[in-house]
Formats: sequence, structure tokens, C-alpha cells
Amino acid sequence: MTEHRQKRIVLGLTGGIAAFKACELARRLQQQGVAVQAVMTEAATRFVGAATMQALTGRPVFTDLWDPSIENGMAHIDLSRGADMIVIAPATADFLGKLAHGLADDLLSTLCLARECPLVVAPAMNRQMWENPATQRNVALLRADGVTVLGPDSGSQACGESGMGRMLEADTLADELLGLFEPKWLAGLHVVVTAGPTFEKIDAVRGITNRSSGRMGYAIARIARDFGARVTLVSGPTGLEPPPGIAVESVRSAADMLSAVEKHVANCHIFVGVAAVADYTPLNPQDQKMKKDARILSVELAPTVDILANVASRADPPFCIGFAAESENLDEYAEAKRRRKHLPLLAANLAQDAIGSEESELVLFDDSGRHPLPRAPKLEQARRLMEHAARLYAATNGQRGATP
Ligand code: CTP
Repeated sequence: MTEHRQKRIVLGLTGGIAAFKACELARRLQQQGVAVQAVMTEAATRFVGAATMQALTGRPVFTDLWDPSIENGMAHIDLSRGADMIVIAPATADFLGKLAHGLADDLLSTLCLARECPLVVAPAMNRQMWENPATQRNVALLRADGVTVLGPDSGSQACGESGMGRMLEADTLADELLGLFEPKWLAGLHVVVTAGPTFEKIDAVRGITNRSSGRMGYAIARIARDFGARVTLVSGPTGLEPPPGIAVESVRSAADMLSAVEKHVANCHIFVGVAAVADYTPLNPQDQKMKKDARILSVELAPTVDILANVASRADPPFCIGFAAESENLDEYAEAKRRRKHLPLLAANLAQDAIGSEESELVLFDDSGRHPLPRAPKLEQARRLMEHAARLYAATNGQRGATP
């Protein structure tokens, strides 16, 4: 069980077309074990029925400050008491204005004002409304007051225009909200993560790569960010959308990855080598497309630099975490790899089991031995791995990093 499982969120809907996405958001949060209490403004009920939110959350939905069914007439106090977070999604320009100026003329704005917990808003509006200096001023005020603003995103809008102002998608919002609940074990630390495959050029259109999806590296980068770290993700070519709030450096070849890592690693505290870096690269890549003929073709390959071993052998190395994808003799090969590369922590899995899969089974190796992590989705494995890493890091680096 992870921490956010028993959390309570008050989900406030205001009157925008993006209210339909709040239905999916409520469902996703519930699926993650979060209790969701929906509160809607009168305008929100014109876009989504209160009955819909009630059915999705399994709880009565409140819309009215004067609701006679609330026993002591104190809904604005009762609803936010005991909540771990109030999330306004969608948050209209009008509602952001109200929040920024402390207005309280309906149930939702009143309970935002009477709260003790963090407040998160997911703006949703037309491009011009978002860009209007008044809205920008209100958003800046909210940020200065410690309100978390998630999004908006850019893209096509309900009004037919295209631009900034779309509410974040429900799955992205759910991930971001759950991330806010994670303990900040890596606050103040810089974490560099490599992810994905590399692509080694043979000629203008061909190359050598592998089947790594990058999912594990991206999950680790996200969890490190959620644990409070500043994260740099050095990524080979993947089809993945990087999580917001992470500095991403996109690279292609093993040599590119090495130079990107060298640029960032000098002032990092934790380095996680998750990338499936090519061990060999064509010696003489051709600039033009090679033409075929009837002869057997050999491509001469030269070994690449081992990026992880390189980082771990620096004079003052960061805390280095390696990955080992083995096809057999997992324990023996993984522990030998950990010792050879001088790593305090290594996560190993069976290549045939993990590559391209949504889930993985990991075994962690450190100086105290072997720690198996049972099969789980990659994000959960990333959380367990980084929790273990934070503990080891705190033990070896004194007060830097908090102890899980
Ligand atoms: N790694 C790296 N640079 C390389 C090769 C590997 O940084 N040129 C890192 C990977 O990111 C991973 C670890 O080293 O964290 C182990 O990678 P793996 O491919 O399992 O092992 P290799 O060292 O390449 O050994 P082998 O292929 O013989 O198993």
C-alpha cells in the first residue's frame, strides 16, 4: 500500500465544457483508492449532471451553500475538514478570479476560503481568456499564495480555436495529483536519469537500436520528481511524453548520450542509468544510403563507452544506480555487474520479461544483499526502487535527503 491510497480529495467542478473530463478524473482517482467528494457550482451542473458525479464517486454531491440536507448548515466547513486536498477541475477564469481575491459567494468558493489543506487548480478556458492580463494576474496571485496550478495545455478548443487553455487530460491530472501526495524524500537533490534505447547510425536511413520502450526510465524520472528532486532526463528515441516539470535532453546515439550525461552529472547527487545503451556502434557510418548488391555485407562495430561505469568511476561520483537486463543467471550476472561497475545499488530483471511490458519483476542488489520486488506496474516498481535508493542515500550521506 502506498501513502496516497487512503487520501481524501474534494473535487470542485466549475462551469466549463471541460467538466466532462472531471468525470474521468474522479473515476481514476477512485481507482487509485482516493476518496473523492464532488462539489459543483451551479454553472458546472449545466455541463455535467450532479447524478453523474454522484454515481462515479459513490457520495452525495453538494452544490448549494444553503442545502437543507446538511445538518448543521456548515457544509463549507465540514466538507473541507479532513480533506487532504481541494482540486478545482475545471477551474474557469471567473472562478480563478474569485479565488485570487478571496471572494466567497457560493459553496465551492466558500469552502476554498475556509480550508486548511492544499488547493490545486486545473484551469480550462478559451485561449484569449487565458492570455488576458487579468487572468494571468490572478494566476500569478494564486501561485504566490501557494496554490498549485496544473496546466493548462495547448491544443484545439471547444470554441473551434487552437491555443493555450485546454484543461489537462484526466490521466495526466490524476498522475500529477497523486504525485503531490508522495513524500519529499529527495527534496533539494538533483537526479539524472538515462532512459530508452539508443540509435547507432549505419547509413542515412538505417541504424542499430533495440526494443527498450523507455517506460521504466520515464517512470523513475517521474517518481524522483514526485519525491521532490530536480530531475534531468537524458532520453534516447522513444514515443513517450515526458512528465511535466522535468528537464529533458533528447539524444540519439550512445556517444550523444555520453556527452549529455557528462554535461549534467558533475552537480548531480543521484545518477540512474536505465537506458539500454548500445554496446557497439558502426565504425564507419555512411552519410548516403548504401546500395545493395549480391555480396555478403559486414558492418564493423566498435565498442561504445559504458556511461554508467564512467560516471561511477569519477573522483567524486554521485550515488549511482544501475539496471541489468539479463536473459539467464539473473542473480549471479547482476551482482557481478554491480561489483564490476562499483554501484551501491543495481536493479535487475529478466530481459524477456520486462522489455515492452507494462509490468516488471525486479530484484535489487546492494551491499546488504538481495531484495526481490514482486511483479507490479512499472510506476509502482519505480516508486519502490527510488524509496530504497532514498534510504541508502540518506544512510550514506547523512542529513542530505530524508529517511523514508
Ligand atoms: N550502460 C551504460 N552504458 C553502456 C552500456 C550500459 O550506461 N554503454 C548501463 C545501462 O544503462 C545499465 C547498465 O549499464 O544501467 C547495465 O546495462 P546492460 O546492458 O545490462 O549491461 P552491460 O554492461 O552492457 O553488459 P552485458 O551487455 O554484457 O550484459
